[in-house]
Amino acid sequence: MSAARFAVIGQPVSHSKSPRIHAAFARECGVDIEYTAIEVAPKELANQLATLHADGYVGLNVTLPHKAAAVALCAGVSERAQLAGAVNCLIRSDDGWRGDNTDGEGLLRDLSRLGLVVAGARVLVLGAGGAARGIVGPLLAAAPASLTVSGRNPWKPEELAEQFKPVGTVIPRTHLALKGDAYDLIINATSAGHDGGVPRLPPGLLAAGGACYDLSYGAAFEPFAAWARAQGASVVADGLGMLVEQAAASFTLWLGPAPDAEAVLATLRAG
Ligand SMILES: NC(=O)c1ccc[n+]([C@@H]2O[C@H](COP(=O)([O-])OP(=O)(O)OC[C@H]3O[C@@H](n4cnc5c(N)ncnc54)[C@H](OP(=O)(O)O)[C@@H]3O)[C@@H](O)[C@H]2O)c1
Repeated sequence: MSAARFAVIGQPVSHSKSPRIHAAFARECGVDIEYTAIEVAPKELANQLATLHADGYVGLNVTLPHKAAAVALCAGVSERAQLAGAVNCLIRSDDGWRGDNTDGEGLLRDLSRLGLVVAGARVLVLGAGGAARGIVGPLLAAAPASLTVSGRNPWKPEELAEQFKPVGTVIPRTHLALKGDAYDLIINATSAGHDGGVPRLPPGLLAAGGACYDLSYGAAFEPFAAWARAQGASVVADGLGMLVEQAAASFTLWLGPAPDAEAVLATLRAG
């Protein structure tokens, strides 16, 4: 029997670590899969999804810039993907692709791995883009004392807070309006690090003993890491663990077994 086929689709996608991560999971779990990276332009998304389904692919990961656009192309999506307005994992069904979003689950698993407790904590999410929408639901479910989402403009945080009202309370703020606040956990969900920057924030936002987490990793993590260290953060973590954990959650949705993310993370960090 030939190997079950999987792929990550995006543009650009050649840099993706997903093929390496899933190959390691498959080895560990003793399953035979083929996992490739497929470059897909936005105007080709609908055609490609139909073609990959017709070709017998069992599952897909979806990365930038298709996470939001792919929602409307699914035969159905999970509640958490609907709320996030984005899918990162597609599961084959007879009538098309079923969409899910494992980003928030990936973050929560990584926070837990790092010993960072959301329950009872004052949590601040910087940024109100696609990744922020993916993590807000699982963060609310983890019962923080409060969850604030801030942006450089008020509109996106306000829209996000309104959208999540049925799930829980999100406090919308601009970065500047955070002045005087204190948080136990600050999560950077902006893409500012890709341009070598950090959001402009008032001083004193991190409570004593507080921790900082960045969804970015690699060079894009460095500016926020420097900011977090300057605030005296007890933990300064990048998003590589989240990447591996969201992949592990996808792998389980497709195939059943729960791979050990820790071992793969150690391999990735080793280079
Ligand atoms: N580790 C993982 O598994 C994982 C998963 C998903 C995403 N990510 C990372 O998360 C980050 C965000 O991704 P995304 O999909 O949410 O992107 P996105 O939808 O484009 O949103 C980017 C957000 O960053 C904000 N932003 C950009 N530059 C900024 C600056 N200089 N100052 C303040 N805010 C700024 C944007 O604000 P405006 O709305 O005002 O433009 C927006 O809120 C990326 O670095 C991505 O690589 C990691």
